Amino acid sequence: MPDTRSAPVTVPRVRATKVREGHEPLVMVTAYDAPGARIVDAGGVDMILVGDSVANVVLGYEDTLQVTVADMAHHVAAVARAEPAALVVGDLPWMSYHVDVADTVRNAAVLIRAGAQCVKLEGGAIRAPMVRALVDAEIPVMGHIGLTPQSVNAFGGFKVQARDDEAAQLLIEGAEALVGAGVFAVVVEGVPEKVGAAVTDALDVPTIGIGAGPACDGQVLVLHDLLGLTARTAKFVRRYANLADDATAAVARFAADVRSGSFPSDAEVYH
Ligand code: KIV
Repeated sequence: MPDTRSAPVTVPRVRATKVREGHEPLVMVTAYDAPGARIVDAGGVDMILVGDSVANVVLGYEDTLQVTVADMAHHVAAVARAEPAALVVGDLPWMSYHVDVADTVRNAAVLIRAGAQCVKLEGGAIRAPMVRALVDAEIPVMGHIGLTPQSVNAFGGFKVQARDDEAAQLLIEGAEALVGAGVFAVVVEGVPEKVGAAVTDALDVPTIGIGAGPACDGQVLVLHDLLGLTARTAKFVRRYANLADDATAAVARFAADVRSGSFPSDAEVYH
């Protein structure tokens, strides 16, 4: 597949991308290691999100609350070692930006030093002081609103958010507060499509949707979901491959070849 990008993707370039101004939608995909980063970068994404979804997708946890700054730095560094042209977004894990602003900046700096070019955090207006402090420390920030997975216990499960007008209005105000504090883009997750459209309309920075409808300025999916490597997926996921089935079949063929004695063949041994 041809790589259509001419230069490494930067924060200012992402910030300037609004579909209503005639730009192409942004593409973001997660990756958690160097091979994953190489695959998504070669696929031509604009941004690689080293998401805290590594907790459920790779590490086998039920939710994202178990990963630490050290865990995230480990995965950010692996992605950065692939030297992608795409912008590397490091996800701040739960409790790394909830206590105070100094803590937030120090934790974000760990991800930047590991190789991220910016960080992402979840929540609306309540996060504005943290966003301001990060931006003051020259750390670009991506917001994340709606069905924020780190709020799973507060929400009582992974439930679509902002279903009524009052909640939708609060969500938009939260997004505006984040933009006022300096975020360069906002992920909008798990909201009705008209809410995704209204947030996108209200903001002059790009929105990147995941289960937020087609009106957003970009879309993000978890790599393992789109490759068909995860067993359960949400309604908004489109699978572009069935790699779990392909991988299982490949391993089964190897096992059969070993047991039948057909592996290794003469060509596969040193003489
Ligand atoms: O961690 C993650 O993968 C995310 C996406 C779902 C946006 O935050």
